[in-house]
Order: sequence, then structure tokens, then C-alpha cells
Amino acid sequence: MELSGTSLLWKLLSAAVLVLSAGLLLLFDPWDFGYPELWRKTGLAGAPARAAACLVAGVLLLAAGWLYRLFFAPLELLRSPEDVGYVAEDGRSRARAANEVRRRRKTGELPPVYPNGWYRVLDSHMLERGDVKSVTVLGEQVAVFRGQDGKAFVVDAYCPHLGANLAVGGRVVGSCIECPFHGWQFRGEDGKCVRIPYAEKVPEFAKVRCWPSCEVNGQVLVWFHCDGEEPGWRVPEQKEISRGEWVYRGRTEHFISAHIEEIPENAADIAHLAHLHTPGIVSGVDLRYTNSKTWEFIRHDWKVEWKPEPEPNKHCSQMLVKHALTVFGRHWPLLDLSVVARQVGPGLVFLLFDHSFLGRGVIMHCVTPVEPLLQCVSHTIFYQSSIPPLVPKFILRAECIQFERDVMIWNNKKYISNPMLVKEDSAIQKHRRWFSQFYSENSPRLRYQHDTLDF
Ligand code: FES
Ligand SMILES: [Fe+2]
Repeated sequence: MELSGTSLLWKLLSAAVLVLSAGLLLLFDPWDFGYPELWRKTGLAGAPARAAACLVAGVLLLAAGWLYRLFFAPLELLRSPEDVGYVAEDGRSRARAANEVRRRRKTGELPPVYPNGWYRVLDSHMLERGDVKSVTVLGEQVAVFRGQDGKAFVVDAYCPHLGANLAVGGRVVGSCIECPFHGWQFRGEDGKCVRIPYAEKVPEFAKVRCWPSCEVNGQVLVWFHCDGEEPGWRVPEQKEISRGEWVYRGRTEHFISAHIEEIPENAADIAHLAHLHTPGIVSGVDLRYTNSKTWEFIRHDWKVEWKPEPEPNKHCSQMLVKHALTVFGRHWPLLDLSVVARQVGPGLVFLLFDHSFLGRGVIMHCVTPVEPLLQCVSHTIFYQSSIPPLVPKFILRAECIQFERDVMIWNNKKYISNPMLVKEDSAIQKHRRWFSQFYSENSPRLRYQHDTLDF
């Protein structure tokens, strides 16, 4: 959504600039080509020259715009749920292929679907003062709004009075949200109703559920606990972002049809790296072709270790990655990259980059369950402001290509509660034990299973 709005605006702006500059060029003849004189003399004969000038000006402007976007504008890649990871054969549309895969899939014996923890709802720059956004998180509809004082709040979207959606037509008044139906106003801080325009008194019970939330690292996050417990840990602040040393260089968004736990489990699944992520990023994301002979001269080699962190950070784990690039069998040490991927709770990962000349930065990888088997995954990159934006944009793009290979697996797989593992897979079981701390007895489970015939 965000991308289409931005790109539409961009196109309209470029068209306006193009028409305006072409008009000015033709009217004022800044380089003294003699157009006005020529037009007067030749009448229609000047038209081809004008058209050519318009065309050249247009192409130049578009090229300038394209170069500007390439070098300076943040990279924004927002995929819709059926865009990536489905095989559409026999002339079927991708949407149809995605639908069929989802309908036919066997879910397996799933762990609870909504682990306790912090989840990203949106990025701060998507929410201006006075804005209200409707977001689906953990199967709930919430209204995210920013009060006039700049503070962001998250409340249940449905008004407790008669059920109108506060995020659809609701208005921010001070630090409250006003329902579009009868004008009740709810305080963002605690959800309490502070005004009913037609009632003498606001009853004590009038309130909307308010979600514990925080805003850190340029993101608005909510806390979920199935028993309503208070947050057990905080979202770590990346100081370089708060201080403005690392700046926003882009984001990607994917919707993945899988159980949430399957996504972080990837970090402990060391064997898949050599198989799925070794072909060079030039081989693309479609697993049917990534092993093609054409590109086999480029390889990524990975050395990975996964380990949980000790108390008091037992809700964190780390994946230490060493990446090496080989071209025609020759190793390019200058492009060796070490990354620490620190998982914080079930839904947040900080991928920290530190390279001698490519600079430092972080990709925040956030997984937020939308529904039991639909995860919204965003990658947001902040990078040293002194490094040309093209570098972090390339890193994000490369990460995105590798990630989309996993998406193709996740979208089509089944969850296996008792996997057939070998000794070398042992980190996967360790990861499952570590992840189980985010479930409690009352954690919601997927009850409804599609009608299938089990043989
Ligand atoms: S439904 Fe919200 S004020 Fe009536
Ligand atoms: Fe992977």
C-alpha cells in the first residue's frame, strides 16, 4: 500500500515536472536555439523540433529521476501474500496457485499460534501526528494512532459502544481517539472514555482495550501476553538510530503462509544454508532454477553457529554468521562479512553488520502474526549516514533475495512436530526448546483444521 501511494505520487510529480520544464524550455528558449523565431517563420514546420525537444527533455528528466532514486531514495519492496514463493503452472494465476496451496496444505501438529512477546505493528514514519492506521495483528484488529503530542498508542479497533471501527474514519483529538459513529472519545494512555458528546456523565466502565506499546528504533511495537501479563523484557534500543548516526535506507515486507516458529527456526537450521543459500544471488529466488549451470561460478559460503543467551537475556539468542563469496572458485576476502543476528523474543531480530569499508548498520527483521498461519515479515535497514545509500540498499536487496528462497519453502511446507533429524541438525531441537519459553498454558491454538482426508 505504502509503495503504491509513494510511486503514484512520484509518477504524478515527474509528469508535472516534465510538462512544466518542457513548456518552459519551449517558451523561453534558454539556450538560444531560435525556436520562437523559427516557429513564427515556419508555422507547423517547427512542430517536429518542438516535439523532439520535449522528448529529449522528458527522457533526461526521467533518467535524472531514475538515477536519483537509484542512488539516494530508500529501497521499498512491498510484496503481497501471493507475490513470492508459489509455483503457478498450467496458466493459473499466482493468486489461484497460492489459494490452492493454502487450502490443501496439511498443517501438522502446530505449537500455539501466538507466542508471548513484542511485535512490530508499523514503522514510525508511517504514522504522522494525528494519523490513525488500521492494523491486523495476532488475529485482532487494532487502531494505531499518534496523538497531537507525538505519542503513539494502540487500542482495539472496535468501539465498545456499538462496534464501529475506530481506525476507519476515527479522528485524533489531543491524545484521544474519537469514534466516527457517535463521537465517544477514548484516551490513548489507558483506553478510558473521557467524553460522550450526548451523555451527562461518562460511566466508569466505558473504556476500550489498550495494548501495551512502545516506540523504539523507528518502530511502533505492541506487547502480547495470552494471560494479560505485563511485559517481561524491553525492546533493546539501537543507540546509533536514536542518535541519528544510522539512518533509514529502506524496507521490505512479505506475507508468509507458515507458523511463526518456522521463521526463526531457520537460524538454527544450519544445514539449509549450504543447500538453499549457496547459489549466488544472481540465480534468483525461484528454487526450480537457483541451481542452474549458468550462474554456478558464483557461490556464497556460510559458517554459522546458533546459541541461546544466558540469564537475564534468556529471551534472546544469537546466530553468528560468517559469509564468504567465491567467484570461479576464487575467494574474495574483501567481501567477507560477519553478521550477528540477535533474536529478541519471538518476533524481532537485529542483524548487525560491521565491515571494514562497507560500514556499519542494522537490518531489523520483524515477524508479526497476522493470522494463525500468516506472518507479516518486514526488514528495515538503518545504516551509517556517511556510507553511500547504494551500499545498504544492495545489502537489503541481497538479503531479500536469500530470504525469498526461504519464503518459497515456508509457503509450501508442513509443520512437523517430530522431525526426522540427524546429529548435525541438533541446533533445531535446541531452538525448539528455547522458543517454547514464549508459550504458556493458555496460549491460543489453532482449533479449526480444514477438512482433509488423512490416509
Ligand atoms: S460505536 Fe463508537 S461511539 Fe458509538
Ligand atoms: Fe534461510
